[in-house]
Amino acid sequence: MDSVQVRPMQEDDLPSAERASAVTFFEAERSTRRVSDPEAEPRSAAASKQWIDRMRFYLSVDPAGCWIAVDEEAGANRAVGFAISQNRGRLWFLATYGVLPSHQGQGIGKRLLDAALAHADGRPGIFSSSVHPGATRRYRMADFSLHPQMRMVGTVDRSTLPVVDGLQEGQADDFAWMDQLDQDLRVAAHGPDHGYMLDILRLVVCRDGARPGYAYLDDRGRASLLAAAHPETAQKLLWEALASSQGPTLVNCITTPNEWAIDVGLAARLDIGQEGYIAVRGMPVPAPYLASGHFL
Ligand SMILES: CC(C)(COP(=O)(O)OP(=O)(O)OC[C@H]1O[C@@H](n2cnc3c(N)ncnc32)[C@H](O)[C@@H]1OP(=O)(O)O)[C@@H](O)C(=O)NCCC(=O)NCCS
Repeated sequence: MDSVQVRPMQEDDLPSAERASAVTFFEAERSTRRVSDPEAEPRSAAASKQWIDRMRFYLSVDPAGCWIAVDEEAGANRAVGFAISQNRGRLWFLATYGVLPSHQGQGIGKRLLDAALAHADGRPGIFSSSVHPGATRRYRMADFSLHPQMRMVGTVDRSTLPVVDGLQEGQADDFAWMDQLDQDLRVAAHGPDHGYMLDILRLVVCRDGARPGYAYLDDRGRASLLAAAHPETAQKLLWEALASSQGPTLVNCITTPNEWAIDVGLAARLDIGQEGYIAVRGMPVPAPYLASGHFL
């Protein structure tokens, strides 16, 4: 497709890229949905705004990892694909990646991923992968190992909640030791991503010098990133998340090296499900660790 150009993304591309992302993931969800899954729903206005805010943040921190495909024939600068990746120290991660259904299977995805991987410049890499067959094909062909992820779903049986001690509310003062823990667990610190997450999520920390850990929880008590020096600390943090959950909850991104999370979920009477992969290249699967889909 000669009319398609792959180039670095600019801030004024964001509205068009957001629309391409919303359509792409809505269709991907519809086509890979299992009969027991809820119907796919179009992205809400609030989620669109969050998407644009997050992409603007990536563009401000590491613009050279952010790529867009535009189709000149479809209208000047109309986005048909995007690959948003970031380097943090010695680590590369892929934050999001998609090509409009109308343009898939024509090599645009490969061109985008090649551009993002050139930015990695040989760094170890990690991201959370969908089950879309075009995506998993591209990732394995780029030498990533795909580790299946489990997830725990259901409503917590509150009679199972243990008394958890040693946890506190976290703040920006905690970032220095959290960055050190990140380096031990997943090659590099989250650095500026911690500030972004603290603005929108609740941070719970265990400041135990020998066995520290932290978790970011959303407003429904779901852990969107959890890191710990020891599985016992990780379990305490997850219990705190489950205690603050309201209604049906979800613990996502659980790989087999993280069975400590499965054990907590089962004790709380959640069910095991399976969804997607953690993709890694040049590094092991982190543990004790539950990755953030957005910041890994
Ligand atoms: C993943 C994605 C970005 C790839 O973009 P693309 O432009 O289709 O990629 P390419 O054409 O370069 O390569 C895709 C490969 O998978 C194949 N493929 C594409 N769609 C497929 C499908 N539905 N079933 C099976 N194979 C498929 C293509 O033939 C191609 O293989 P080939 O190069 O050996 O012929 C795109 O498919 C997509 O947006 N998927 C939905 C969103 C998603 O899951 N994103 C990843 C999130 S982690």
